[in-house]
Amino acid sequence: MTTQSSGGVTEQRSLLGVISLAFVGIQIILLARGLYQIRKLRALERLYGCEKLCDESDNFRYDVFGIVKAIKLASHFHRRTSLLYTNSLFQRYGETYASNVLGHRLIFTCSAENIKHMLSTAFVDFDSSPLRRPLFEPITPHGIFTLDGADWKRSRGQLRNRLSNLRNIIDLDLCEQHFQAFLQHVPQNGQVFDVQRCTAALALDMQTRFALRESTDALSFTQSQEKKQFVEDLDLVKERIVRDGFRGPLRHLVPKRAFYQACWRARKFVTARARREVERRSSKVERTKDGHLGTGFDKSEEISQFVDQAMTILLANDSMSTTLSGLFYCLAQDERIVQKLRASIIDTIGLTPPTWGQLGTLHYVRWVLQEACKALRVFPAAVLNARVANKHSTMPSGGGTDGQSSVLVRKGDIVVFSTWTRHRLGKDFGDNPDKFYPERWEHLSSDMSGFIPFNKGPRICPGQHYAMTVLTYIVARIFQTFSTVSNYSTKEWTERISLTFENENGVLVGLS
Ligand code: HEM
Repeated sequence: MTTQSSGGVTEQRSLLGVISLAFVGIQIILLARGLYQIRKLRALERLYGCEKLCDESDNFRYDVFGIVKAIKLASHFHRRTSLLYTNSLFQRYGETYASNVLGHRLIFTCSAENIKHMLSTAFVDFDSSPLRRPLFEPITPHGIFTLDGADWKRSRGQLRNRLSNLRNIIDLDLCEQHFQAFLQHVPQNGQVFDVQRCTAALALDMQTRFALRESTDALSFTQSQEKKQFVEDLDLVKERIVRDGFRGPLRHLVPKRAFYQACWRARKFVTARARREVERRSSKVERTKDGHLGTGFDKSEEISQFVDQAMTILLANDSMSTTLSGLFYCLAQDERIVQKLRASIIDTIGLTPPTWGQLGTLHYVRWVLQEACKALRVFPAAVLNARVANKHSTMPSGGGTDGQSSVLVRKGDIVVFSTWTRHRLGKDFGDNPDKFYPERWEHLSSDMSGFIPFNKGPRICPGQHYAMTVLTYIVARIFQTFSTVSNYSTKEWTERISLTFENENGVLVGLS
Protein backbone atom coordinates (compact mmCIF):
# COMPACT_ATOMS: atom_id res chain seq x y z
CA MET A 1 0.00 0.00 0.00
CA THR A 2 2.74 2.44 1.07
CA THR A 3 4.78 1.38 -1.97
CA GLN A 4 1.74 1.99 -4.23
CA SER A 5 1.04 5.49 -2.85
CA SER A 6 4.71 6.54 -3.01
CA GLY A 7 4.70 5.25 -6.66
CA GLY A 8 1.62 7.47 -7.35
CA VAL A 9 3.35 10.51 -5.85
CA THR A 10 6.45 9.84 -7.96
CA GLU A 11 4.28 9.58 -11.10
CA GLN A 12 2.51 12.85 -10.25
CA ARG A 13 5.85 14.54 -9.67
CA SER A 14 7.24 13.39 -12.99
CA LEU A 15 4.00 14.51 -14.74
CA LEU A 16 4.36 17.91 -13.09
CA GLY A 17 7.99 17.97 -14.20
CA VAL A 18 6.98 17.25 -17.80
CA ILE A 19 4.28 19.96 -17.70
CA SER A 20 6.70 22.52 -16.24
CA LEU A 21 9.29 21.61 -18.84
CA ALA A 22 6.72 21.94 -21.64
CA PHE A 23 5.60 25.29 -20.19
CA VAL A 24 9.16 26.60 -20.04
CA GLY A 25 9.77 25.21 -23.57
CA ILE A 26 6.71 27.05 -24.93
CA GLN A 27 7.83 30.27 -23.22
CA ILE A 28 11.28 29.92 -24.77
CA ILE A 29 9.79 29.29 -28.22
CA LEU A 30 7.47 32.31 -27.86
CA LEU A 31 10.34 34.47 -26.67
CA ALA A 32 12.52 33.29 -29.55
CA ARG A 33 9.72 33.97 -32.02
CA GLY A 34 9.19 37.41 -30.46
CA LEU A 35 12.89 38.21 -30.72
CA TYR A 36 12.97 36.89 -34.29
CA GLN A 37 10.00 39.18 -35.16
CA ILE A 38 11.70 42.17 -33.54
CA ARG A 39 14.91 41.45 -35.48
CA LYS A 40 12.91 41.12 -38.68
CA LEU A 41 11.14 44.43 -38.04
CA ARG A 42 14.42 46.19 -37.22
CA ALA A 43 15.96 44.82 -40.43
CA LEU A 44 12.96 46.09 -42.41
CA GLU A 45 13.25 49.48 -40.70
CA ARG A 46 16.96 49.67 -41.60
CA LEU A 47 16.33 48.55 -45.18
CA TYR A 48 13.72 51.26 -45.83
CA GLY A 49 15.25 53.92 -43.57
CA CYS A 50 12.14 53.96 -41.36
CA GLU A 51 11.93 56.32 -38.43
CA LYS A 52 9.62 56.67 -35.47
CA LEU A 53 6.03 57.60 -36.20
CA CYS A 54 4.45 60.36 -34.15
CA ASP A 55 1.72 59.06 -31.84
CA GLU A 56 -0.96 60.34 -29.48
CA SER A 57 0.73 59.08 -26.31
CA ASP A 58 1.07 62.66 -24.98
CA ASN A 59 -2.72 62.82 -24.92
CA PHE A 60 -3.54 59.27 -23.77
CA ARG A 61 -0.56 58.41 -21.52
CA TYR A 62 -2.41 56.02 -19.19
CA ASP A 63 -4.86 54.64 -21.75
CA VAL A 64 -2.93 51.38 -22.16
CA PHE A 65 -5.86 49.50 -23.71
CA GLY A 66 -7.05 52.35 -25.91
CA ILE A 67 -10.44 52.48 -24.19
CA VAL A 68 -10.51 56.25 -23.59
CA LYS A 69 -9.55 56.86 -27.23
CA ALA A 70 -12.34 54.53 -28.42
CA ILE A 71 -14.88 56.37 -26.28
CA LYS A 72 -13.62 59.70 -27.61
CA LEU A 73 -14.03 58.54 -31.23
CA ALA A 74 -17.54 57.20 -30.53
CA SER A 75 -18.54 60.40 -28.76
CA HIS A 76 -17.38 62.58 -31.69
CA PHE A 77 -19.32 60.32 -34.08
CA HIS A 78 -22.38 60.70 -31.88
CA ARG A 79 -21.98 64.50 -31.63
CA ARG A 80 -21.38 64.68 -35.40
CA THR A 81 -17.97 66.26 -34.99
CA SER A 82 -15.77 63.37 -36.24
CA LEU A 83 -14.35 65.30 -39.15
CA LEU A 84 -13.49 68.41 -37.15
CA TYR A 85 -11.83 66.17 -34.56
CA THR A 86 -9.87 64.25 -37.22
CA ASN A 87 -8.73 67.49 -38.88
CA SER A 88 -7.59 68.95 -35.56
CA LEU A 89 -5.46 65.85 -34.89
CA PHE A 90 -3.81 66.06 -38.32
CA GLN A 91 -3.02 69.70 -37.58
CA ARG A 92 -1.53 68.75 -34.22
CA TYR A 93 0.46 65.60 -35.13
CA GLY A 94 1.12 66.05 -38.84
CA GLU A 95 -0.17 64.17 -41.90
CA THR A 96 0.50 60.71 -40.42
CA TYR A 97 0.32 59.58 -36.78
CA ALA A 98 -0.52 56.49 -34.73
CA SER A 99 -3.21 55.84 -32.11
CA ASN A 100 -4.07 52.96 -29.84
CA VAL A 101 -7.76 52.03 -30.11
CA LEU A 102 -8.91 49.03 -28.04
CA GLY A 103 -5.47 47.47 -28.29
CA HIS A 104 -5.18 47.90 -32.08
CA ARG A 105 -2.58 50.17 -33.58
CA LEU A 106 -4.38 52.57 -35.92
CA ILE A 107 -2.30 54.71 -38.24
CA PHE A 108 -4.16 57.80 -39.42
CA THR A 109 -2.95 59.44 -42.60
CA CYS A 110 -4.01 62.14 -45.02
CA SER A 111 -0.68 62.19 -46.87
CA ALA A 112 -1.18 61.93 -50.66
CA GLU A 113 2.07 59.97 -50.89
CA ASN A 114 1.04 57.41 -48.27
CA ILE A 115 -2.50 57.04 -49.62
CA LYS A 116 -1.19 56.49 -53.15
CA HIS A 117 1.38 53.99 -51.87
CA MET A 118 -1.25 51.98 -50.01
CA LEU A 119 -3.88 52.04 -52.76
CA SER A 120 -1.51 51.47 -55.69
CA THR A 121 2.18 50.67 -55.17
CA ALA A 122 1.78 48.39 -52.13
CA PHE A 123 -1.81 47.37 -52.93
CA VAL A 124 -1.18 43.67 -52.22
CA ASP A 125 0.11 44.40 -48.68
CA PHE A 126 -3.22 45.87 -47.57
CA ASP A 127 -6.67 44.26 -47.32
CA SER A 128 -10.18 45.67 -46.98
CA SER A 129 -12.11 42.55 -46.08
CA PRO A 130 -11.04 42.03 -42.43
CA LEU A 131 -12.74 45.31 -41.56
CA ARG A 132 -15.68 45.07 -43.93
CA ARG A 133 -16.62 41.39 -43.99
CA PRO A 134 -18.13 41.33 -40.48
CA LEU A 135 -20.18 44.43 -41.34
CA PHE A 136 -21.36 43.58 -44.87
CA GLU A 137 -21.69 39.80 -44.60
CA PRO A 138 -25.36 39.68 -43.57
CA ILE A 139 -26.45 41.80 -46.54
CA THR A 140 -23.98 40.78 -49.23
CA PRO A 141 -21.93 37.76 -48.12
CA HIS A 142 -20.11 37.33 -51.44
CA GLY A 143 -20.23 40.94 -52.64
CA ILE A 144 -17.03 42.72 -53.65
CA PHE A 145 -16.86 44.75 -50.42
CA THR A 146 -16.28 41.57 -48.41
CA LEU A 147 -13.54 40.19 -50.67
CA ASP A 148 -9.79 40.41 -51.20
CA GLY A 149 -7.26 38.44 -53.27
CA ALA A 150 -8.38 36.03 -55.99
CA ASP A 151 -12.10 36.20 -55.08
CA TRP A 152 -12.01 39.98 -55.26
CA LYS A 153 -10.30 39.80 -58.68
CA ARG A 154 -13.02 37.50 -60.03
CA SER A 155 -15.82 39.68 -58.66
CA ARG A 156 -14.10 42.81 -59.98
CA GLY A 157 -13.87 41.24 -63.46
CA GLN A 158 -17.63 40.54 -63.44
CA LEU A 159 -18.41 44.11 -62.38
CA ARG A 160 -16.02 45.49 -64.99
CA ASN A 161 -17.90 43.58 -67.71
CA ARG A 162 -21.18 44.92 -66.40
CA LEU A 163 -19.97 48.54 -66.26
CA SER A 164 -17.72 48.65 -69.31
CA ASN A 165 -19.99 49.67 -72.18
CA LEU A 166 -21.55 52.91 -70.99
CA ARG A 167 -23.63 53.42 -74.12
CA ASN A 168 -25.28 50.05 -73.56
CA ILE A 169 -25.99 50.53 -69.89
CA ILE A 170 -27.02 54.19 -69.69
CA ASP A 171 -30.34 54.86 -71.37
CA LEU A 172 -30.70 58.65 -71.68
CA ASP A 173 -34.47 58.34 -72.21
CA LEU A 174 -34.73 56.63 -68.83
CA CYS A 175 -32.51 59.32 -67.27
CA GLU A 176 -34.97 61.85 -68.67
CA GLN A 177 -37.91 59.98 -67.12
CA HIS A 178 -36.20 60.05 -63.72
CA PHE A 179 -35.38 63.73 -64.12
CA GLN A 180 -39.05 64.46 -64.91
CA ALA A 181 -40.07 62.56 -61.74
CA PHE A 182 -37.58 64.70 -59.77
CA LEU A 183 -39.15 67.87 -61.22
CA GLN A 184 -42.52 66.87 -59.75
CA HIS A 185 -41.00 67.44 -56.29
CA VAL A 186 -39.66 70.94 -56.96
CA PRO A 187 -42.18 73.49 -55.63
CA GLN A 188 -43.26 76.36 -57.89
CA ASN A 189 -41.80 79.89 -57.75
CA GLY A 190 -38.59 79.04 -55.93
CA GLN A 191 -40.27 77.94 -52.72
CA VAL A 192 -38.24 75.98 -50.20
CA PHE A 193 -37.76 72.18 -50.30
CA ASP A 194 -35.15 69.69 -49.09
CA VAL A 195 -33.22 68.87 -52.23
CA GLN A 196 -31.10 66.30 -50.35
CA ARG A 197 -34.18 64.10 -49.77
CA CYS A 198 -35.08 64.35 -53.46
CA THR A 199 -31.56 63.63 -54.80
CA ALA A 200 -31.39 60.58 -52.54
CA ALA A 201 -34.66 59.29 -54.05
CA LEU A 202 -33.55 60.19 -57.58
CA ALA A 203 -30.22 58.36 -57.22
CA LEU A 204 -31.92 55.32 -55.72
CA ASP A 205 -34.50 55.15 -58.52
CA MET A 206 -31.78 55.38 -61.18
CA GLN A 207 -29.53 52.86 -59.48
CA THR A 208 -32.28 50.31 -58.82
CA ARG A 209 -33.29 50.61 -62.47
CA PHE A 210 -29.69 49.82 -63.40
CA ALA A 211 -29.01 47.14 -60.78
CA LEU A 212 -32.41 45.38 -60.68
CA ARG A 213 -33.85 46.45 -64.05
CA GLU A 214 -36.72 47.93 -62.05
CA SER A 215 -36.93 51.26 -60.26
CA THR A 216 -37.97 51.46 -56.61
CA ASP A 217 -40.15 54.48 -57.57
CA ALA A 218 -38.94 56.46 -54.55
CA LEU A 219 -39.91 59.66 -56.40
CA SER A 220 -43.35 58.36 -57.34
CA PHE A 221 -46.41 59.52 -55.41
CA THR A 222 -47.88 56.03 -55.76
CA GLN A 223 -44.95 53.89 -54.61
CA SER A 224 -46.02 50.35 -53.64
CA GLN A 225 -45.84 49.27 -49.99
CA GLU A 226 -43.32 46.54 -50.93
CA LYS A 227 -40.93 49.07 -52.48
CA LYS A 228 -41.39 51.50 -49.61
CA GLN A 229 -40.38 48.73 -47.21
CA PHE A 230 -37.33 47.90 -49.35
CA VAL A 231 -36.15 51.52 -49.30
CA GLU A 232 -36.60 51.67 -45.52
CA ASP A 233 -34.74 48.38 -45.07
CA LEU A 234 -31.87 49.53 -47.25
CA ASP A 235 -31.56 52.76 -45.23
CA LEU A 236 -31.57 50.87 -41.95
CA VAL A 237 -28.92 48.42 -43.20
CA LYS A 238 -26.59 51.18 -44.43
CA GLU A 239 -26.95 53.22 -41.26
CA ARG A 240 -26.20 50.20 -39.07
CA ILE A 241 -23.17 49.11 -41.11
CA VAL A 242 -21.55 52.51 -40.64
CA ARG A 243 -22.45 52.84 -36.96
CA ASP A 244 -20.99 49.39 -36.33
CA GLY A 245 -17.86 50.35 -38.24
CA PHE A 246 -17.33 53.22 -35.83
CA ARG A 247 -18.26 51.13 -32.77
CA GLY A 248 -15.62 48.49 -33.57
CA PRO A 249 -15.77 45.44 -31.25
CA LEU A 250 -18.26 47.32 -29.04
CA ARG A 251 -20.85 46.69 -31.78
CA HIS A 252 -21.46 43.21 -30.34
CA LEU A 253 -23.08 44.86 -27.31
CA VAL A 254 -25.91 46.36 -29.40
CA PRO A 255 -28.88 44.08 -30.39
CA LYS A 256 -29.04 43.28 -34.10
CA ARG A 257 -32.47 41.76 -34.59
CA ALA A 258 -33.91 44.65 -36.63
CA PHE A 259 -30.75 44.74 -38.77
CA TYR A 260 -30.90 41.01 -39.58
CA GLN A 261 -34.61 41.26 -40.38
CA ALA A 262 -34.00 44.22 -42.71
CA CYS A 263 -31.14 42.31 -44.44
CA TRP A 264 -33.36 39.28 -44.90
CA ARG A 265 -36.26 41.29 -46.38
CA ALA A 266 -33.96 43.36 -48.63
CA ARG A 267 -32.27 40.22 -50.00
CA LYS A 268 -35.67 38.61 -50.58
CA PHE A 269 -36.77 41.67 -52.59
CA VAL A 270 -33.59 41.63 -54.68
CA THR A 271 -33.63 37.83 -55.14
CA ALA A 272 -37.15 37.98 -56.64
CA ARG A 273 -35.88 40.48 -59.25
CA ALA A 274 -32.73 38.40 -59.82
CA ARG A 275 -34.81 35.27 -60.46
CA ARG A 276 -36.96 37.10 -62.98
CA GLU A 277 -33.91 38.53 -64.77
CA VAL A 278 -32.12 35.18 -64.92
CA GLU A 279 -35.28 33.50 -66.28
CA ARG A 280 -35.42 36.17 -68.96
CA ARG A 281 -31.77 35.61 -69.87
CA SER A 282 -32.07 31.83 -69.86
CA SER A 283 -35.11 31.92 -72.13
CA LYS A 284 -33.04 34.07 -74.50
CA VAL A 285 -30.26 31.46 -74.40
CA GLU A 286 -32.86 28.74 -75.04
CA ARG A 287 -34.22 30.56 -78.03
CA THR A 288 -30.80 31.10 -79.57
CA LYS A 289 -29.89 27.45 -79.03
CA ASP A 290 -33.01 26.11 -80.75
CA GLY A 291 -34.73 24.96 -77.63
CA HIS A 292 -31.62 23.65 -75.85
CA LEU A 293 -30.41 25.41 -72.74
CA GLY A 294 -26.77 26.36 -73.24
CA THR A 295 -24.25 24.42 -71.23
CA GLY A 296 -22.52 26.39 -68.52
CA PHE A 297 -25.67 28.39 -67.72
CA ASP A 298 -26.14 27.57 -64.05
CA LYS A 299 -29.28 29.38 -62.95
CA SER A 300 -28.74 29.28 -59.19
CA GLU A 301 -25.16 30.49 -59.61
CA GLU A 302 -26.38 33.30 -61.89
CA ILE A 303 -29.08 34.31 -59.40
CA SER A 304 -26.70 34.46 -56.46
CA GLN A 305 -24.15 36.44 -58.51
CA PHE A 306 -26.87 38.87 -59.65
CA VAL A 307 -28.06 39.41 -56.05
CA ASP A 308 -24.58 40.12 -54.72
CA GLN A 309 -23.76 42.43 -57.60
CA ALA A 310 -27.06 44.32 -57.32
CA MET A 311 -26.71 44.69 -53.55
CA THR A 312 -23.16 46.00 -53.97
CA ILE A 313 -24.26 48.58 -56.52
CA LEU A 314 -27.11 49.71 -54.26
CA LEU A 315 -24.80 50.01 -51.27
CA ALA A 316 -22.41 52.10 -53.40
CA ASN A 317 -25.30 54.20 -54.62
CA ASP A 318 -25.46 57.02 -52.09
CA SER A 319 -22.33 58.64 -53.45
CA MET A 320 -24.27 59.99 -56.42
CA SER A 321 -26.91 61.54 -54.22
CA THR A 322 -24.30 63.01 -51.88
CA THR A 323 -22.49 64.61 -54.81
CA LEU A 324 -25.73 66.16 -56.09
CA SER A 325 -26.99 67.42 -52.72
CA GLY A 326 -23.53 68.75 -51.87
CA LEU A 327 -23.46 70.51 -55.21
CA PHE A 328 -26.77 72.25 -54.44
CA TYR A 329 -25.48 73.26 -51.02
CA CYS A 330 -22.47 74.95 -52.64
CA LEU A 331 -24.40 76.48 -55.54
CA ALA A 332 -26.98 77.98 -53.20
CA GLN A 333 -24.16 80.12 -51.79
CA ASP A 334 -22.72 81.32 -55.09
CA GLU A 335 -24.97 83.03 -57.59
CA ARG A 336 -22.04 83.63 -59.98
CA ILE A 337 -21.38 79.92 -60.48
CA VAL A 338 -25.08 79.15 -61.02
CA GLN A 339 -25.24 81.78 -63.78
CA LYS A 340 -22.03 80.58 -65.38
CA LEU A 341 -23.14 76.94 -65.20
CA ARG A 342 -26.48 77.64 -66.87
CA ALA A 343 -24.91 79.86 -69.53
CA SER A 344 -22.24 77.23 -70.30
CA ILE A 345 -24.90 74.56 -70.83
CA ILE A 346 -27.22 76.71 -72.96
CA ASP A 347 -24.34 78.11 -75.05
CA THR A 348 -23.09 74.58 -75.79
CA ILE A 349 -26.27 72.57 -76.34
CA GLY A 350 -29.24 74.89 -76.02
CA LEU A 351 -32.36 73.85 -74.15
CA THR A 352 -32.94 70.37 -75.55
CA PRO A 353 -31.87 67.30 -73.51
CA PRO A 354 -28.21 66.42 -74.13
CA THR A 355 -27.37 63.65 -76.57
CA TRP A 356 -24.57 61.14 -75.97
CA GLY A 357 -22.23 63.12 -78.18
CA GLN A 358 -22.99 66.38 -76.36
CA LEU A 359 -22.38 65.05 -72.82
CA GLY A 360 -18.62 65.07 -73.36
CA THR A 361 -18.65 68.71 -74.43
CA LEU A 362 -20.10 70.08 -71.17
CA HIS A 363 -16.73 70.96 -69.63
CA TYR A 364 -17.94 73.43 -67.01
CA VAL A 365 -20.50 70.89 -65.74
CA ARG A 366 -17.65 68.42 -65.28
CA TRP A 367 -15.51 70.95 -63.37
CA VAL A 368 -18.47 71.75 -61.14
CA LEU A 369 -19.00 68.05 -60.44
CA GLN A 370 -15.32 67.41 -59.77
CA GLU A 371 -15.31 70.35 -57.39
CA ALA A 372 -18.41 68.91 -55.65
CA CYS A 373 -16.65 65.54 -55.33
CA LYS A 374 -13.64 67.35 -53.89
CA ALA A 375 -15.65 69.54 -51.56
CA LEU A 376 -17.94 66.91 -50.20
CA ARG A 377 -16.07 63.67 -50.54
CA VAL A 378 -18.09 60.57 -50.26
CA PHE A 379 -18.45 56.75 -49.81
CA PRO A 380 -18.42 53.84 -47.31
CA ALA A 381 -16.75 55.12 -44.42
CA ALA A 382 -15.26 57.05 -47.20
CA VAL A 383 -14.75 60.39 -45.66
CA LEU A 384 -12.62 58.06 -43.57
CA ASN A 385 -11.61 54.80 -45.23
CA ALA A 386 -9.31 52.04 -44.01
CA ARG A 387 -7.13 49.06 -44.88
CA VAL A 388 -5.43 46.38 -42.76
CA ALA A 389 -1.80 45.39 -43.36
CA ASN A 390 -1.70 41.67 -44.20
CA LYS A 391 2.10 41.57 -43.70
CA HIS A 392 4.84 43.83 -42.36
CA SER A 393 5.12 46.72 -44.78
CA THR A 394 6.09 50.38 -44.95
CA MET A 395 4.72 53.76 -45.93
CA PRO A 396 6.93 56.39 -47.55
CA SER A 397 6.31 59.29 -45.17
CA GLY A 398 5.36 60.23 -41.62
CA GLY A 399 8.56 59.17 -39.82
CA GLY A 400 11.08 61.29 -37.90
CA THR A 401 10.69 64.76 -36.45
CA ASP A 402 9.94 66.32 -39.83
CA GLY A 403 7.61 63.48 -40.93
CA GLN A 404 9.60 63.01 -44.13
CA SER A 405 11.02 59.52 -43.50
CA SER A 406 9.43 56.14 -44.17
CA VAL A 407 7.52 54.41 -41.39
CA LEU A 408 7.02 50.78 -40.57
CA VAL A 409 3.52 49.30 -40.78
CA ARG A 410 3.24 46.06 -38.81
CA LYS A 411 1.08 43.13 -39.88
CA GLY A 412 -2.42 43.74 -38.45
CA ASP A 413 -2.03 47.54 -38.21
CA ILE A 414 -5.11 49.40 -39.43
CA VAL A 415 -4.37 52.36 -41.68
CA VAL A 416 -7.19 54.92 -41.74
CA PHE A 417 -6.97 57.47 -44.53
CA SER A 418 -8.93 60.69 -44.66
CA THR A 419 -9.99 61.84 -48.08
CA TRP A 420 -11.88 64.66 -46.41
CA THR A 421 -8.69 66.12 -44.95
CA ARG A 422 -6.60 65.36 -48.05
CA HIS A 423 -8.95 67.47 -50.13
CA ARG A 424 -8.70 70.34 -47.68
CA LEU A 425 -5.10 70.59 -46.51
CA GLY A 426 -2.07 71.71 -48.42
CA LYS A 427 -1.64 73.32 -51.80
CA ASP A 428 -2.56 70.44 -54.18
CA PHE A 429 -5.69 72.27 -55.29
CA GLY A 430 -4.25 75.79 -55.37
CA ASP A 431 -5.31 78.61 -53.06
CA ASN A 432 -8.23 78.26 -50.65
CA PRO A 433 -8.85 74.52 -51.10
CA ASP A 434 -11.93 74.90 -48.87
CA LYS A 435 -13.59 77.25 -51.34
CA PHE A 436 -16.00 75.87 -53.97
CA TYR A 437 -14.27 77.14 -57.12
CA PRO A 438 -14.81 75.02 -60.27
CA GLU A 439 -12.40 77.17 -62.32
CA ARG A 440 -9.45 75.55 -60.49
CA TRP A 441 -10.01 72.51 -62.77
CA GLU A 442 -8.93 74.56 -65.76
CA HIS A 443 -5.34 73.97 -64.61
CA LEU A 444 -5.74 70.66 -62.74
CA SER A 445 -6.26 67.09 -63.86
CA SER A 446 -8.64 64.61 -62.24
CA ASP A 447 -5.69 62.14 -62.37
CA MET A 448 -3.67 64.21 -59.84
CA SER A 449 -2.58 62.10 -56.88
CA GLY A 450 -4.30 64.09 -54.09
CA PHE A 451 -7.73 63.97 -55.80
CA ILE A 452 -9.27 60.74 -54.57
CA PRO A 453 -13.08 60.89 -54.49
CA PHE A 454 -13.13 57.55 -56.34
CA ASN A 455 -9.94 56.30 -54.69
CA LYS A 456 -6.97 55.16 -56.81
CA GLY A 457 -5.26 51.97 -57.86
CA PRO A 458 -6.73 48.53 -58.62
CA ARG A 459 -9.66 49.11 -56.24
CA ILE A 460 -10.68 52.43 -57.78
CA CYS A 461 -14.45 52.89 -58.05
CA PRO A 462 -15.55 50.87 -61.10
CA GLY A 463 -18.67 53.05 -61.35
CA GLN A 464 -16.90 56.41 -61.71
CA HIS A 465 -17.44 56.92 -65.45
CA TYR A 466 -21.02 55.68 -65.16
CA ALA A 467 -21.61 58.07 -62.26
CA MET A 468 -20.01 61.10 -63.94
CA THR A 469 -22.01 60.51 -67.16
CA VAL A 470 -25.37 60.18 -65.39
CA LEU A 471 -24.62 63.14 -63.12
CA THR A 472 -23.60 65.30 -66.09
CA TYR A 473 -26.95 64.54 -67.73
CA ILE A 474 -28.96 65.35 -64.61
CA VAL A 475 -27.07 68.57 -63.81
CA ALA A 476 -27.40 69.73 -67.41
CA ARG A 477 -31.16 69.12 -67.34
CA ILE A 478 -31.62 70.85 -63.98
CA PHE A 479 -29.81 74.00 -65.10
CA GLN A 480 -31.47 74.04 -68.49
CA THR A 481 -34.70 74.23 -66.48
CA PHE A 482 -33.79 76.57 -63.59
CA SER A 483 -31.69 79.69 -63.41
CA THR A 484 -31.53 80.45 -59.69
CA VAL A 485 -30.83 78.46 -56.53
CA SER A 486 -32.06 80.26 -53.40
CA ASN A 487 -30.51 79.36 -50.09
CA TYR A 488 -32.96 78.59 -47.26
CA SER A 489 -30.51 76.77 -44.96
CA THR A 490 -30.18 78.62 -41.69
CA LYS A 491 -27.98 76.11 -39.89
CA GLU A 492 -24.34 75.18 -40.40
CA TRP A 493 -23.46 72.09 -42.45
CA THR A 494 -23.46 69.26 -39.90
CA GLU A 495 -21.94 65.91 -40.82
CA ARG A 496 -24.05 62.80 -41.03
CA ILE A 497 -21.74 59.97 -41.94
CA SER A 498 -23.71 57.08 -43.37
CA LEU A 499 -22.39 54.89 -46.18
CA THR A 500 -21.76 58.32 -47.58
CA PHE A 501 -21.84 61.75 -46.20
CA GLU A 502 -24.81 64.08 -45.81
CA ASN A 503 -25.98 67.22 -44.08
CA GLU A 504 -27.82 66.36 -40.87
CA ASN A 505 -30.01 69.46 -41.39
CA GLY A 506 -30.95 68.67 -44.99
CA VAL A 507 -30.18 71.01 -47.91
CA LEU A 508 -32.95 73.58 -48.06
CA VAL A 509 -33.12 75.45 -51.36
CA GLY A 510 -35.58 76.96 -53.80
CA LEU A 511 -35.27 76.53 -57.58
CA SER A 512 -36.75 78.97 -60.08
C1 HEM B 1 -20.11 60.14 -57.44
C2 HEM B 1 -20.31 58.86 -57.34
C3 HEM B 1 -19.39 57.84 -56.73
C4 HEM B 1 -18.32 58.01 -55.90
C5 HEM B 1 -17.74 59.31 -55.38
C6 HEM B 1 -17.78 56.69 -55.59
C7 HEM B 1 -16.70 56.44 -54.78
C8 HEM B 1 -16.16 55.20 -54.54
C9 HEM B 1 -14.99 54.93 -53.73
C10 HEM B 1 -14.17 55.98 -53.01
C11 HEM B 1 -14.78 53.61 -53.73
C12 HEM B 1 -13.63 52.86 -53.09
C13 HEM B 1 -13.96 52.34 -51.73
C14 HEM B 1 -12.78 51.61 -51.16
O1 HEM B 1 -11.91 51.13 -51.83
O2 HEM B 1 -12.74 51.54 -49.98
C15 HEM B 1 -15.81 53.01 -54.52
C16 HEM B 1 -15.93 51.66 -54.72
C17 HEM B 1 -16.93 51.11 -55.45
N1 HEM B 1 -17.90 51.78 -56.18
FE1 HEM B 1 -18.15 53.76 -56.30
N2 HEM B 1 -18.54 55.77 -56.23
C18 HEM B 1 -19.52 56.42 -56.94
C19 HEM B 1 -20.50 55.84 -57.73
C20 HEM B 1 -20.60 54.50 -57.97
C21 HEM B 1 -21.59 53.91 -58.83
C22 HEM B 1 -22.65 54.67 -59.60
C23 HEM B 1 -21.36 52.56 -58.81
C24 HEM B 1 -22.07 51.46 -59.56
C25 HEM B 1 -22.75 51.61 -60.65
C26 HEM B 1 -20.24 52.31 -57.92
C27 HEM B 1 -19.73 51.08 -57.64
C28 HEM B 1 -18.68 50.85 -56.79
C29 HEM B 1 -18.20 49.51 -56.44
C30 HEM B 1 -18.79 48.20 -56.91
C31 HEM B 1 -17.10 49.68 -55.60
C32 HEM B 1 -16.23 48.59 -54.96
C33 HEM B 1 -14.99 48.36 -55.81
C34 HEM B 1 -14.00 47.36 -55.22
O3 HEM B 1 -14.03 47.11 -54.02
O4 HEM B 1 -13.19 46.86 -56.00
N3 HEM B 1 -19.79 53.52 -57.44
N4 HEM B 1 -16.64 54.01 -55.01
